Amino acid sequence: MSRPVDPSTSTARAGLGRGDTGDGVDLVAPLSLASVRAFADLPSVDEAMQGRNAYRRYGGGNPQRLEEAMIELETVPGQTAPVARVTSSGQAALLLAATLVVTPSRPRVVVVRPCYAGTDSLLAGPLGNLGVRITTVDLPPEGGGDHGAMVAAVLGADVGAVVTEVITNPLIGLIDVPAVAAAAHAVGAACIVDSTFTPPFVFRPFANGADLVIHSLTKHLAGHSDVSGGVLLVDTGHEASDWLDANARLLGCNLAPFDAWLALRGLRTAGLRLERCCENAAALAAFFANRAELQGVHYPGTRGVEDAALADRLLPRGRGAMLSIDLRGGGAAADAFIRGLDGIRLAPSLGDVATTVSYPASTSHRALSPQQRAALGIGDGLVRISVGIEHIDDLSAEFDAALVAASAG
Ligand SMILES: Cc1ncc(COP(=O)(O)O)c(C=O)c1O
Repeated sequence: MSRPVDPSTSTARAGLGRGDTGDGVDLVAPLSLASVRAFADLPSVDEAMQGRNAYRRYGGGNPQRLEEAMIELETVPGQTAPVARVTSSGQAALLLAATLVVTPSRPRVVVVRPCYAGTDSLLAGPLGNLGVRITTVDLPPEGGGDHGAMVAAVLGADVGAVVTEVITNPLIGLIDVPAVAAAAHAVGAACIVDSTFTPPFVFRPFANGADLVIHSLTKHLAGHSDVSGGVLLVDTGHEASDWLDANARLLGCNLAPFDAWLALRGLRTAGLRLERCCENAAALAAFFANRAELQGVHYPGTRGVEDAALADRLLPRGRGAMLSIDLRGGGAAADAFIRGLDGIRLAPSLGDVATTVSYPASTSHRALSPQQRAALGIGDGLVRISVGIEHIDDLSAEFDAALVAASAG
């Protein structure tokens, strides 16, 4: 058995078909666009239909290479590897996950908030029409509290899953995932971790109680704002792993080959990118702290002693690439701040190789009413920053100018 390698090493080598050592083979996987393959006779087609290569909806070379890379990245050293399916978006990965853990006897899903607004909207809206019921647990905006107990208070034998992020969107609070997972397991529910804000280089969900793990590949993992994709990984110790393949085939939310190819190419530099993004985010959190133009800076580990200890425990390799700032002066100040930026673009996503900002009230959380947003602590002055790999001096200078512009009105 080969020695386990660091996630940054495995991503650098992702997709380099290691089994094929013949002379002159492609170093990287060629793109295969065929949506179906041809067969010589009935026994061959029968065998192929049980595998994943006969028909594109079932798998195919490029998506499967990406799956292998994600499995390697999310395998906890010494434990059995999870199974995985790449999907057409992060939302499709959540949909697929829901089909695995919501049953007629367990129709309820508990969602820990704040979270990406599409998460509870998908579960309560389209899936609500199919009988899924959701209960939300809103963590206090100021941080702290016993997250396990808060979740346990709403759990019951009718709950199929608890869905949680690690770093919350958009308030960048840190969730005690092991405590949430333990509460879910106590009632026989699965713990689904949306680890989009915490790629494998910064957090290991399966070592922290997750049964199912979702990433939007659209963000940091692909990293270049040219792919829509997702991945669902399921612990093989969980019964849901038995029907992942069957459900994925039927749902048809598979990732297209070219998107898989692009995502794999992006993934190969993700270790290095994330290292730099995390360093830059930490430096910017320090830069923004105590600026008079701001009434708050949101960054993991900054909400008191308990939060700092949790960040050290869960995120030992870096606290992620995301932070949010809350401008005094609300929406008008946020608009002036964004107009005051020069090379940093306003874009309703995250995880690009370059720094971008987003305005949750009109993008990721626009589905919530102003009152609902306020209750979650998402004010009109909140700007979310996805930190990229630029030189920190350039980022600080540009944000400094924008803060000055914001205070000038
Ligand atoms: C935390 C989180 N999870 C899931 C998603 C959904 O991902 P996608 O847009 O790839 O469907 C997003 C999108 O912004 C997100 O921020």
